[in-house]
Amino acid sequence: TPLKNIRNFSIVAHIDHGKSTLADRLIQFTGGLTVREMKSQVLDSMELERERGITIKAQTVRLNYTAKDGETYVLNLIDTPGHVDFTYEVSRSLSACEGALLVVDASQGVEAQTLANVYQAIDVDLEIVPVLNKVDLPAADVDRVKAQIEDVIGIDSSEALEISAKTGVGVDEVLEAIVTRLPAPSGDAEAPLKALLVDSWYDAYLGVVVLVRVIDGTMKKGMRIRMMGAEAVYTIDQVGVSTPKKTPVAELGPGEIGYLTASIKEVADTSVGDTITDDRRPTTEILSGFKPSVPVVFCGIFPVDANDFEDLRAAMGKLRLNDASFEFEMETSAALGFGFRCGFLGLLHLEIIRERLEREFNLDLITTAPSVVYNIHQTDGSMVELHNPADMPDPVRIDHIEEPWIKATIMAPDEYLGGILKLCEERRGIQQNLTYAGTRAMLVYELPLNEVVFDFYDRLKSVSQGYASFDYQITDYRPGNLVKMQVLVNDEPVDALSIVVHSDKAQNRGRAMCEKLKDLIPRHMFKIPIQAAIGGRVIARETISAMRKDVTAKCYGGDASRKRKLLDKQKAGKKKMRQFGRVEIPQEAFIKALKID
Ligand code: GTP
Repeated sequence: TPLKNIRNFSIVAHIDHGKSTLADRLIQFTGGLTVREMKSQVLDSMELERERGITIKAQTVRLNYTAKDGETYVLNLIDTPGHVDFTYEVSRSLSACEGALLVVDASQGVEAQTLANVYQAIDVDLEIVPVLNKVDLPAADVDRVKAQIEDVIGIDSSEALEISAKTGVGVDEVLEAIVTRLPAPSGDAEAPLKALLVDSWYDAYLGVVVLVRVIDGTMKKGMRIRMMGAEAVYTIDQVGVSTPKKTPVAELGPGEIGYLTASIKEVADTSVGDTITDDRRPTTEILSGFKPSVPVVFCGIFPVDANDFEDLRAAMGKLRLNDASFEFEMETSAALGFGFRCGFLGLLHLEIIRERLEREFNLDLITTAPSVVYNIHQTDGSMVELHNPADMPDPVRIDHIEEPWIKATIMAPDEYLGGILKLCEERRGIQQNLTYAGTRAMLVYELPLNEVVFDFYDRLKSVSQGYASFDYQITDYRPGNLVKMQVLVNDEPVDALSIVVHSDKAQNRGRAMCEKLKDLIPRHMFKIPIQAAIGGRVIARETISAMRKDVTAKCYGGDASRKRKLLDKQKAGKKKMRQFGRVEIPQEAFIKALKID
């Protein structure tokens, strides 16, 4: 395809503003799929994505569109996720494009993630076409939202498109705008191959599949390619495009987006942002690439049944093929045995990985409290990164501890402002700014990530009845008065329940955790003390009183089969439990104990 007939674009939007629905429409209007193949939301292919209605993996689809000028264009749509945890996936997808559609729900207006995503698009110099969606809704207020786009984002909205992705109104104008308003890519077909590695994933049939954006040169089957950063060489088995069905093509030229397979076994060789070139005639320019986003939230994941350890390792390896931002390494816990310390981009990311492990690989897991990465400055002048509260050095060796801080942007109708301010203050927030766009407040806060990582987003949704939107970025590390709090069950410390907490909050957190555990741990034949402690000092305590009777006691003399049934039932219940000395703790307790109501 000649360069002038290619358009590479993304859709950026806040969650639920209709990005997937519009993508579906574009595919449908250009005949990308037959009606029978056309399932709703084709781009959100993973089961979990469908259920949660969110887009996790960036996907791409190639559309053929015959425009009003009579020419046929190849439109490559790269899908981007909308959740804050996945901003890195957004940035890498955007850099493979020349333009973006900025979709804003005309009944809602600009939200926190609209801003975050559009700024990323502006950062990589994309041409932006504003699209007001959901104009079919009675609550749509086109003029207000146009003004908002100009005031809050600062881009011209006079030529914003007004559409309904649901009914299809205005979708043809979107296609025309892509062709007429977005620039064509540039590149040199004769130059040595230079391509951007946009994404890679593991496919059960094809092995590792690499999504590429060709800048210069041509890529075809049989070619020996080199991943310049990874210093790995492969021979291409297949190049193709996704319509979204994987369809092999003869070659991929400049400006084109497609995939390649090359019998790649190691996803480690396919780092996103790397430059792919011709091994025989390499380019001299390496693309600047992008900095992969490093995991910011860590937790332990352990099999309930110790025999599942190897299966868990294999399952994590598989998921990592699809997700380079997920990290894991072996860990042993006195309480939980062998497992893995895992790193994630955020809490949603954690939840998704955990659910996939449980569902797709049929594993029963215990997840420990999520923790951020702390910098521990020791008295001998050295600094260590702490990924696991259980590994905290002896306090006498610690000079000071630094924790990550974020800049958070929160947008909400002003009637919820009181509750939101209170929440941010409770979480040690420092207010930076408060502005209004109409009746919507835009709040900027600095917050310690430690206070946000666990349940901030849930709480924000509940104090705003779901109307607040939230986005953040990590800004810096700052010293904090932080301590390690341990929990002792039946006088034994349970390492998996250790947390790092601000000392002003330790007392309340300790008390809340003990109370929670008192409800979560079932009664035993003996009484169980539960304590929270800092160093040797107990700061909170609860006691679970002893159970009075044996469950089978009432079956005395009764029939044996009934007795057996009761014992079986008890055993089944046990599977979800973990033994600590003499005490059994249900696996859910490790997470539930930390939720703050
Ligand atoms: P994420 O994938 O979570 O980022 O969401 P999204 O932006 O892709 O939103 P999606 O397309 O899933 O749409 C969200 C909801 O809005 C769905 O219930 C759609 O049916 C609905 N919706 C999308 N476009 C329109 C529209 O033009 N009009 C109306 N009334 N509803 C729409």
